[in-house]
Amino acid sequence: MTAMTVLVTQPIHDEAIAAIRATGAQVRCLNSPRPLGGAELAAASRDCHALVTLLTDTVDRQVLTGNPALRLVANVAVGYDNIDLAAAREAGVFVTNTPGVLTDATADLAMALLLGCARRLTEADRMIRDGNFPAWTLLQEPMGLDVTGRTLGIVGMGRIGAAVARRAHHGFGMPILYTARHDHPAEEAELAGQRVELDELLARADYVSLHTPLRPDTHHLIDERALRLMKPTAVLINTGRGPLVDEAALARALTAGWIAGAGLDVFEFEPRVVPELLACRQRVVLAPHLGSATDSTRRRMSALAAESVIALARGEQPVNRVV
Ligand code: DGY
Repeated sequence: MTAMTVLVTQPIHDEAIAAIRATGAQVRCLNSPRPLGGAELAAASRDCHALVTLLTDTVDRQVLTGNPALRLVANVAVGYDNIDLAAAREAGVFVTNTPGVLTDATADLAMALLLGCARRLTEADRMIRDGNFPAWTLLQEPMGLDVTGRTLGIVGMGRIGAAVARRAHHGFGMPILYTARHDHPAEEAELAGQRVELDELLARADYVSLHTPLRPDTHHLIDERALRLMKPTAVLINTGRGPLVDEAALARALTAGWIAGAGLDVFEFEPRVVPELLACRQRVVLAPHLGSATDSTRRRMSALAAESVIALARGEQPVNRVV
């Protein structure tokens, strides 16, 4: 193969670019300050052999089938719902992701959201900054919810779900319920976890944490019906993908008290958040998709995506293929 041309859509780490360049590949960095839509990406990637994309870029059919030179899309994310996998298969384009390296960082953030909601840390922080630090009283606000010993429901017992369950069970003595497509005997043994149907998990858990990938069958998995099944004292945590939750229904649930709170790192219409949800402040903690946002994790994500491109440049199978 002649030297590969690689298009990198948005900024990634310099060392990852340097590692790709070291193979002799030509690397074109668009350094786009915003995600690329399908038409834009198709136009920008004409004649490129590999693309390094972020989870916000739209890698649709026109990108994947309109360029006969294209061999690989290396997505710098564990999720790949921004990529039309069927079109990639048809076009014979490899798709790779960056699993494993962001498991701990994302699980840590899920626990931070859970604890932050339960103990109302953002509300407390705002109180102090607003000069509202009343003397200690027994009945003081903001009063929190217990975490230790309460039941955690993990929706999707993959790597990140299991890492959250481990933290919750070993660190906080939380009994674990989970949903999954199949049993996870190792996690059940380690965590005394119990696999149940989603409705049962929603009805029994004090905290529900979402870790299932976004697919057509998981879109709005947590809708009004699901939210009404949860306990009025329960808290929903989402570090997976925003559209797993019907955000308007969640705002109704929080306003009407069907559930007690929500810790959200991802949003249905990211980066927009529905105003009704922004208006909910009690036991609601919001973060702008920070799950994997530690410096070392993000560097490892860049490096892993680069490894896929490098493998292709060497005529090997790219690592971490999803197609
Ligand atoms: C991913 O990798 O899919 C995450 O959402 C990024 O934090």
